Amino acid sequence: MATMQSLIGLVNKIQRACTVLGDHGGEGFSLWEALPSVAVVGGQSSGKSSVLESIVGRDFLPRGSGIVTRRPLVLQLHKTEGGADYAEFLHAPKKRFTDFAAVRKEIEDETDRLTGKTKQISNVPIHLSIYSPNVVNLTLIDLPGMTKVAVEGQAESIVQDIDNMVRSYVEKPNSIILAISPANQDIATSDAIKLAREVDPTGERTFGVLTKLDLMDKGTNALDVLEGRAYRLQHPWVGIVNRSQADINKNVNMMVARQKEREYFENSPDYAHLAHKMGSEFLAKLLSKHLETVIRQRIPSIISQINKAIDEINAELDRIGRPIAADGGAQLYTILEMCRAFDRVFKEHLDGGRPGGDR
Ligand code: GDP
Ligand code: NA
Ligand code: MG
Repeated sequence: MATMQSLIGLVNKIQRACTVLGDHGGEGFSLWEALPSVAVVGGQSSGKSSVLESIVGRDFLPRGSGIVTRRPLVLQLHKTEGGADYAEFLHAPKKRFTDFAAVRKEIEDETDRLTGKTKQISNVPIHLSIYSPNVVNLTLIDLPGMTKVAVEGQAESIVQDIDNMVRSYVEKPNSIILAISPANQDIATSDAIKLAREVDPTGERTFGVLTKLDLMDKGTNALDVLEGRAYRLQHPWVGIVNRSQADINKNVNMMVARQKEREYFENSPDYAHLAHKMGSEFLAKLLSKHLETVIRQRIPSIISQINKAIDEINAELDRIGRPIAADGGAQLYTILEMCRAFDRVFKEHLDGGRPGGDR
């Protein structure tokens, strides 16, 4: 039976297929454009990687100072019914990773494969899927942190290159913006909010996340931001307490960190009244629910994009000649079949009205 959750799974499949075809949301064959996803943006050290790891409940991202994320990382989370967590990369489909330190190493190696060790950036995404009973179905895109100055060994253009790359993701009307700002800096100076304000002035596709609440000066709090008075968004702000650098050095386990985060909010005189709407677990559920809703609203336009793709492929097959294509262009037939299958399944979701996520 089709469920709301399987809609996210379907979109995941199409996104992977688009990548195999070399469609990174650019020109030409562009189904990706029609598909919603969540882009994570923020300044360097705002806590982006920490938030992603909390959402996943695993340590798996490269870390360090400087620009660590140098290619977009498309992270697809798949909820399983049980069993051990594992990860797979699109570029190494036959390899199943159960050691998450090896996942980190593979992200680093795959980044260097395209950028060399030059600290340059590349627009070509890395696709990683994580399967676990402890995640919600969700697709997140980790992007390089916005920065204001190039460091030793980096081209001057890197500041602008990163800005362009991040913009190319958040400008798409389908994109959901996860805007990360640290609570120990004035929200008026937040890179994430500055960008979100430009590309989404009404705040309808921006989720504001405030990290480092535990690092604020004693006697101050972030209620102005969290209650929407400092900067108004259509969606509620979510406060987060990630692991500190000391926690990371001590290898504090992710599940322990989630528990500590819950206790932080429950026991805080300032935030206890908001505790049920705070923290990384709440954020993950909020995003998953929102993504499902957005995909549901977009089904008609996704179907029309798929059909456009089918027409384009048919035209291409006519151009090269079908008998030849059946030999040499087998990939096109595969894509065609896939598009037809996607078209059918999406139409079922459409015709079925409420496809029984709650039946
Ligand atoms: P990124 O550069 O945006 O990906 O930021 P990171 O997630 O790598 O975090 C940068 C540093 O801030 C790391 O040392 C984290 O441990 C620390 N950090 C992130 N979030 C928090 C938080 O909520 N509380 C505390 N105490 N430290 C945090
Ligand atoms: Na960093
Ligand atoms: Mg990072």
